[in-house]
Parts: sequence; C-alpha cells; structure tokens
Amino acid sequence: MGFRASLTLDWNELTNWIFARIFEHMSDINIISQYREKFVTKLKAKILYAEPKNLYEPVSYILDLGGKRLRPVLTLMTAELFGGSSDDAMDAALAVEMFHNFSLVHDDIMDDAPLRRGKTTVHEKWDVNTGILSGDAMLILAYQFFESYPAETYKKLTRLFSKTAIEVCEGQQYDVDFETRDDVTIPEYIKMIEYKTSVLVAAAMEMGAIVAGALEQDCRAMYQFGRNLGIAFQLQDDYLDAFGDPKTFGKQVGGDILENKKTFLYLKSLENGAKEEKESLLHLYSIQPEDGSTKVETVKTIFEESGAVKATKMEIEAYTRKAFQVLDSLQLPESKKQLLRAFGENLMQRTV
Ligand code: IPE
Ligand code: IPE
Ligand code: MG
Ligand code: MG
Ligand code: MG
Repeated sequence: MGFRASLTLDWNELTNWIFARIFEHMSDINIISQYREKFVTKLKAKILYAEPKNLYEPVSYILDLGGKRLRPVLTLMTAELFGGSSDDAMDAALAVEMFHNFSLVHDDIMDDAPLRRGKTTVHEKWDVNTGILSGDAMLILAYQFFESYPAETYKKLTRLFSKTAIEVCEGQQYDVDFETRDDVTIPEYIKMIEYKTSVLVAAAMEMGAIVAGALEQDCRAMYQFGRNLGIAFQLQDDYLDAFGDPKTFGKQVGGDILENKKTFLYLKSLENGAKEEKESLLHLYSIQPEDGSTKVETVKTIFEESGAVKATKMEIEAYTRKAFQVLDSLQLPESKKQLLRAFGENLMQRTV
C-alpha cells in the first residue's frame, strides 16, 4: 500500500511538473509570436507601393514573402526586457529587418540562388540589375527608420548599425573568397559566419537595449548573447542547406554544396573523415558538374559518415549554451531570462 501510495504521489508530481513545463514553454512561444504579429502588422503598413515600379515592387515582394522575422522580434523583446516599450523599439526593428532583406537580395545574386522563402529570388524574377538597385534602396530605407529617434539614441543606433553593416560586407566577402580556397580553417570559418550573420543578430538585440536606455554593460551582454546565438543560427542554416526538407525549407537544398561553400560540415569532414572521404570531397569541391544532384548526394553521405553532421549538431548546441551563459551575468528576473532561452531552444529545433 505504502509503495503504491508513494508511486501514485510521484506520478502525480511528475505529470504536474511536465504540464507546468509544457505550459511555461507554450506561454513563452505565445509571447514570441505576439511580438512577431505586432511587427508584421507594422511592416506591412510601411511597405511602399511607389513609382518607379521596377524599383519598389521587388522591395515589397521580398518583404511580403515572410520569413521568420527573428531579428526584429529580438529587438522588440530585448527592449521590453530592459523596461522599454516595444513601440519605441519598432523603428529600430524595422531598420534591422529591412537591412536583413536587402542583404538577402544581394546574397542571392552572389550565391546564384533560385529560391528564397519558397519563391523565385528577386534577381531571377526580375534581373540582376534590378536586384542590385532595389537592394541599395532597401539599405537606404533601413537607415531612414532611425530618423525618428532623439539625437543621442540616433547616434548610438546608427553607429552600431554602420559598424555591423560593414562587418556583414566583410563576412560576405570572406564567404565568397573561401569558395575558391582549399585551405580554409575552422577558426576562419567561425569568423566568417560571425561577420556575415551573427553580428546582425547581436546588433538587433543591442539596439533593443539601447532604445530601452539599458546600462552599457547590459547592452554589451545582449550583444554577446546575440553573437553566440547568431553563430549557432548560421551553423544550423548550413546544416539545413544540405539536410533540410525541400518541401518546407524554402531555399534550394544543396545550394551550398553546389557553390562549394566551405561550411562547418565540409571542414569537419576534411578534419575527421577517412582518407578516401577526404579525397572524394576535395575532388567534388573542385568540379562544377552539369547535373549537380549526384555531387550533392555523395557529399551529403560523406558529411554523415565522417561524423561531421554529429559534430555540427554539437557545435550548434555549444554556441547556444554559450549564449545562455551570458544570461547568468545579467540582473534580470528569471522569467525574462527564460523567454530568451525559449527563443534559443526554439531556434535550435527549427526546420526553416
Ligand atoms: C537567412 O536568414 C540568412 C542567414 C543569415 C542564414 P533567415 O533564416 O533569418 O531568413 P528569413 O528572414 O527567416 O527568411
Ligand atoms: C547569408 O548567408 C548571410 C547574409 C545574407 C548576409 P547564406 O548565404 O548562408 O544565407 P542563405 O542560406 O542564402 O539564406
Ligand atoms: Mg545565400
Ligand atoms: Mg551567402
Ligand atoms: Mg545558408
């Protein structure tokens, strides 16, 4: 009887605990989607349908395709974490998303990508010149969003934004340079993804903290949280580029392999793979076959069998944990830290 009773009690405690965790997580996810909805409503109201059409249509096209909106959500969320209002952070969030979309239009030209968010890329739907100019316009429109801030905030935001934007260019150049180099190291790769991707995630968060008037040290901590999360995010992007489901991923699966991108998967395969795997990989990354599907399939098998997939997953986990560690130094209520953790956990599970 005693045994039964204690078993029943433990079981009840366990189920209560599980439900509490599920509901806690669900409410975090709800909060995150509320930020997203609020942002998307504002963004839609800002989309310009002006002349000349060939300049502005691609802008509304790319902004309307959707996307996860993770950077602006982080800006709004961070502002509120530090006692600011998401309304005040909205223009910074719009600037960040506009810049991100500009970078995608130009990135798709550079990567010769046919698909973005499940639809034809801007330069394929229109042409390369249209992609370049509409992208340029988006970069300028992004800056204009900062004009609504008081002088001191404006200065802080644009200084961070310009530093970030130039680093994104540097990261993009490294990414392209690496395509034709065969001596890229893992630290070089990490630096490349830090620049092309993670600094914008970091800046998106710091901007939220700046708008909220957070302490300097808290602004810096949020930047570090975003930087580590952004590295995990790009590692995951590289993984999904090879192993994502073509039906849901929204980009051409295998695009990085076809472009000979020196991703973590590739570098780890060279580091840990068997002699034949390395030779085969080096050969495949030196050719551009007419029909790339065999190349993609062979490379994916090498990524799996060399243990590179496993190593990538562990690296994603490690950078996500590093981001979470930054939270330990912050004087924030546990529920607020939990929201950021839920965001990070969610990102690790993503399939798009
Ligand atoms: C794509 O970013 C470019 C990278 C830095 C990997 P996202 O994966 O955030 O793209 P959307 O905005 O959700 O489409
Ligand atoms: C993109 O990296 C980084 C920027 C757009 C600055 P990727 O080239 O991996 O992004 P996707 O995979 O095309 O979205
Ligand atoms: Mg790309
Ligand atoms: Mg690219
Ligand atoms: Mg990618």
